Amino acid sequence: MSEATGGSQPSSQGGAAPTPRVFLKILRADASRLFWAAGRFAFFHAWGKLGGDPIFRELLRRGLLFRGGRLLDLGCGQGCLFAWLLAAQRLSERGQWPAGWAPAPRFQSLRGVELMSRDVERAVAAFGGHHPLVQVEQGDMTQVDVGQVDTVTVLDALHYVDPASQERLLRRIRLALPPGGLFLTRVGDAEAGWPFLVSNWVDRAVTLARSRRPPRLYCRSLAEWQALLTALGFEVETEPMSEGKPFANVMLVCRVPV
Ligand SMILES: C[S@@+](CC[C@H](N)C(=O)[O-])C[C@H]1O[C@@H](n2cnc3c(N)ncnc32)[C@H](O)[C@@H]1O
Repeated sequence: MSEATGGSQPSSQGGAAPTPRVFLKILRADASRLFWAAGRFAFFHAWGKLGGDPIFRELLRRGLLFRGGRLLDLGCGQGCLFAWLLAAQRLSERGQWPAGWAPAPRFQSLRGVELMSRDVERAVAAFGGHHPLVQVEQGDMTQVDVGQVDTVTVLDALHYVDPASQERLLRRIRLALPPGGLFLTRVGDAEAGWPFLVSNWVDRAVTLARSRRPPRLYCRSLAEWQALLTALGFEVETEPMSEGKPFANVMLVCRVPV
């Protein structure tokens, strides 16, 4: 049966592995369901984001979070990434994983830091105050203690802080990561022409609606981000990450040399 018809293929474990399409449907529903506890807005936000943004699928398909272990997500919003990863881990443990995808990452802890208290309240309502793996706290990522981590993610959030704070934060992330540690960040390439202008306009509109004040955004070209991260001692690879959208988003996969 083909992927388009929503069937399944034989898996390497001998059972029936879901096709990517079926898997993603189940995963999206599983991950979003958690946010019912936080209200309709939280649920539909998660549903839209997890189904509409290719980053969530690609993190799993390409195995970009291969290290697992202790994950810190800065600017985590209401914690959609954590709900996605936990649901993925559950499905993988049941043998439900698309053939040919990288193995599911396994996490020891998932810590999020988010500036907006409304998002933190939604996260706490969704995950509960005492989740065994997830902790989401209100704070400014430029000020919090990064702690002991294996992987740090900053997805679509670095451009909210000024250039000097970006550099200080990136340096602290680099120092907190062990050899082999991983830093993943998605940024907009400020030299990408109209796709960048579209994403920048969308960002401004969303930020204005959320915080009710005109946002200041601090963007850089892809070459500038790469140069900065390389100077801090990361090995940097880039992956386009705006498939299906008119945006200029790029994932920077930054590894600490072993
Ligand atoms: C575009 S949203 C992305 C949310 C989340 N990373 C995701 O991919 O779903 C950017 C988030 O960064 C948060 N943010 C901005 N500045 C921050 C700061 N200084 N410290 C912590 N969070 C911040 C915003 O409140 C917002 O929730």
